[in-house]
Amino acid sequence: MSVSVSDLSIEVPNEEEFDLFRNLIEKELGIHLSSAKRVMLGNRLWKRVMATKSSSYRNYYSFIKQKENSDELAQALELVTTNETFFFRERKHFDFLTNELPDYFSEHKNLKVWSAACSTGEEAYSIAMTLEQANYIHSWSIMASDVNTKVLQKARDGIYLDQRTQNIPTEYRRKFFQQGIDDFSGYIRVKSDIRKKISFFKCNLAADFSHLGLFDVIFLRNILIYFELERKKEILERMVEQMKSGGLLFTGHSESLHGLVKSLKCICPAIYVKQ
Ligand SMILES: C[S@@+](CC[C@H](N)C(=O)[O-])C[C@H]1O[C@@H](n2cnc3c(N)ncnc32)[C@H](O)[C@@H]1O
Repeated sequence: MSVSVSDLSIEVPNEEEFDLFRNLIEKELGIHLSSAKRVMLGNRLWKRVMATKSSSYRNYYSFIKQKENSDELAQALELVTTNETFFFRERKHFDFLTNELPDYFSEHKNLKVWSAACSTGEEAYSIAMTLEQANYIHSWSIMASDVNTKVLQKARDGIYLDQRTQNIPTEYRRKFFQQGIDDFSGYIRVKSDIRKKISFFKCNLAADFSHLGLFDVIFLRNILIYFELERKKEILERMVEQMKSGGLLFTGHSESLHGLVKSLKCICPAIYVKQ
């Protein structure tokens, strides 16, 4: 089967080929692809099949499995991640940080935050601006990670299209962003003092992350939906190990943790405290 997108004709992997990639993606990233994602997989990978001059998806699969082609494997895996994000997504979480976080953490605390699937950085910067503006936390630091190195580079750059920043309150825009000029007209950039306080790094949640230490607050939003129940539970259990007692976990509003981890108590929609 082939699907035509403008003038580019994209081959769709057959079921056998799809299963090869599906198992590989599940093993490497923990992401589960339902059978309905066969065309989507073709859309994401076909260009690489062509670029590597592979004669089929099966051929491309064999290519990326070879040790010397690990860069191509990394590239293929990055292409299957979905990186949709925006500033102040799920606004209630940021209202909580402004209004209710002080009830959970004392004023002079050095608050350690982890944005655990940060994509292009909007989530981490939204947290940073909120904490900076709220001004009740004496000091804070944010670690922000993703498995995809391309989105991480965008996050580090902190440059965003003006039209993608409507959700940012006007006061924050004025205080925390520079307006681009000349070649960067139409873009805004997060000011360097905020950028410097966030460390962006690669971390695969399907692999070990126990070396990262303990956090007061973890944002794990809009990522659990990609995992099957057992994987989700296993990642959550390891995530809770990285939380201080009394620490908070924020998940996406559509991601229920109901009954998955006993030590997490829901205190607001999609906000949990470690007991
Ligand atoms: C939909 S975005 C969510 C971004 C942000 N947390 C939000 O809620 O707007 C999901 C992110 O998870 C990342 N991701 C997917 N699998 C991952 C894994 N195994 N480890 C770490 N990050 C992963 C993707 O690269 C993507 O950037």
